[in-house]
Amino acid sequence: MAYTRRGTPPADALKALWRERKLSLAPMDLSGVWRFREALPILPAGAEAVTLREGNTPIYRLPRCAKSAGVDALFAKHQGMNPTGSFKDTGMTTALSMALVKGFHWVGCASTGNTSASMAAYASHAGMRALVLIPEGKIAWGKLSQSLDYAASTCQLKTDFDGCVRVLAEVIRRFPLYLLNSVNPYRLEGQKTTAYEMMEQLGWEPPDHVIVPGGNLGNSSALGKGFREMLAMELIGRLPKLSIIQAAGANPLVRSMREFAGERIEPVRAETRATAIRIGNPASWKKAVAVLRESGGACLDVSEEEIGVAKAEVGADGVGCEPASAVTLAGLKKLVRSGFVKRGDSVVLVLTGHCLKDPEYTMDFHRDRAAGDASLRKPPVLLDADAAAVIELLNRMES
Ligand code: F0G
Repeated sequence: MAYTRRGTPPADALKALWRERKLSLAPMDLSGVWRFREALPILPAGAEAVTLREGNTPIYRLPRCAKSAGVDALFAKHQGMNPTGSFKDTGMTTALSMALVKGFHWVGCASTGNTSASMAAYASHAGMRALVLIPEGKIAWGKLSQSLDYAASTCQLKTDFDGCVRVLAEVIRRFPLYLLNSVNPYRLEGQKTTAYEMMEQLGWEPPDHVIVPGGNLGNSSALGKGFREMLAMELIGRLPKLSIIQAAGANPLVRSMREFAGERIEPVRAETRATAIRIGNPASWKKAVAVLRESGGACLDVSEEEIGVAKAEVGADGVGCEPASAVTLAGLKKLVRSGFVKRGDSVVLVLTGHCLKDPEYTMDFHRDRAAGDASLRKPPVLLDADAAAVIELLNRMES
């Protein structure tokens, strides 16, 4: 294979190599992250990756959501279809593999629940010990139960996510523990491969818009890096506009862009039921600002009510996602209304987590205990154990 000046094979050869690997049964090739390893030169020769076959996530059509948002076609890259149900697995395989190479026995993270679920799984799979710091009470049950099931040492601290980050920083100064929060560069390296996989699935034709939720801002930074690299390697011909959506109650990046043109950020006291993105002091904000600037993406926030409705709409398309992921659809609606996204534009929403992560949120919405459009509510109906009662209900719904 002829190599370019940058030391990577030419674009067409890479595309063919990555496609060919889909037929292989080797563990590294079965991973939707390591399949792109030419873009991921981090493991020393001969080192094995810690993999649970992450990546390889589907792109779905969202016909109902497209209609409600006012675009002709809408796609979702569903990162909730990873082994532990969130996009975190794509970065955990790389970072955990490096923790092993570096000889650590302990890994640790502060988390709103998904990073910890992912880290717990990968650490146990590799025979390592995992310390999880999560905020007490503000974590979805699905995520907390995963951390326990995957046998991590789980501490609920009487603080929020930002407080957990501060405590972990102090722990790391005094105990040999490898930090697996998204400031870990290897996490972002793994997460960037989602952009590669998305482009491969779309025939290397970038969409006009990619829309992601923003919390600690690692994912937007990683995807932006992936697109930037693919452009430099001539795998794609242009960048999609990468837009970042936050919850209105946890919107430090939106404020930074609006009030300080992205030059500085002021931490906020975060509050949202989309607990995954309940973050007031995001670590990777500078990288996220750079991604917004170079791609020409938008940055805005959405209300709790808009998130609830959008989540129910993604569910009603038969796809489903967790609340934090639904900010993408809520944000798209606003971007269409403002004219930033045109009806005929191609749009991919990145759905970051699975709908089973936070069933309590879903139940509250449908049982009318949350804000949002009542017509979307589908509460369970209590009936006698009697076919006639069920048929009567069906007839009523048909009329
Ligand atoms: N969506 C989900 C489902 C998440 O879990 C997160 C972050 C985000 C979006 C935001 O991504 O932080 O890279 O901007 N969850 C982290 C965690 C903070 O600890 O699980 P981000």
